[in-house]
Amino acid sequence: MLDRATRGIPADFLDPFGSHLNDLYLIVNNVLGLQAGAYVYHRREKQLELLKRGDFRDKAHYLGLEQQLPADAAVDVFFLADLKKILERFGNRGYRAVELEAGILGGKLYLAAYAQRLGATGLTFYDDDVVSFFSPHARGKSAIFLVALGRSAAKLR
Ligand SMILES: Cc1cc2nc3c(=O)[nH]c(=O)nc-3n(C[C@H](O)[C@H](O)[C@H](O)COP(=O)(O)O)c2cc1C
Repeated sequence: MLDRATRGIPADFLDPFGSHLNDLYLIVNNVLGLQAGAYVYHRREKQLELLKRGDFRDKAHYLGLEQQLPADAAVDVFFLADLKKILERFGNRGYRAVELEAGILGGKLYLAAYAQRLGATGLTFYDDDVVSFFSPHARGKSAIFLVALGRSAAKLR
């Protein structure tokens, strides 16, 4: 799903094709073949780098505005971007570009989830605490979007 969502978007602000503004950070709660923990996704290598191991369901609950969905999800995908660098390059347009890219990537994650009969939901979050959680790797970045993925409880009923 991560690979399919990040194969590039044709846009003038994403030149060369395949470059990106948002970085994907994950809290993995329960995914077959993956240790629970915090990860960053390297799209070119198509690899997940483990940042810290552990059960972070409580943390996901807190970071996702103290809602149950990100705690229940199999995995939470956080979109983080280096806004300072992006605003220097694009001016005010930079923020719109980051949001647009996040929306399209998030939409692709939704489609990938639904195609596999999984659930997906966009969520709000405590911005600065998200960055702290993924630091030092994410230091200096800003939180942009969050998509929680997993088996939907509504469909299990
Ligand atoms: C940027 C964004 C942020 C959202 N934040 C929340 C949120 O914090 N909590 C929430 O319940 N729904 C949030 N939603 C809406 C959910 O993604 C979803 O549409 C909603 O929960 C209804 O889901 P349902 O139709 O499956 O019941 C957000 C959507 C977007 C696009």
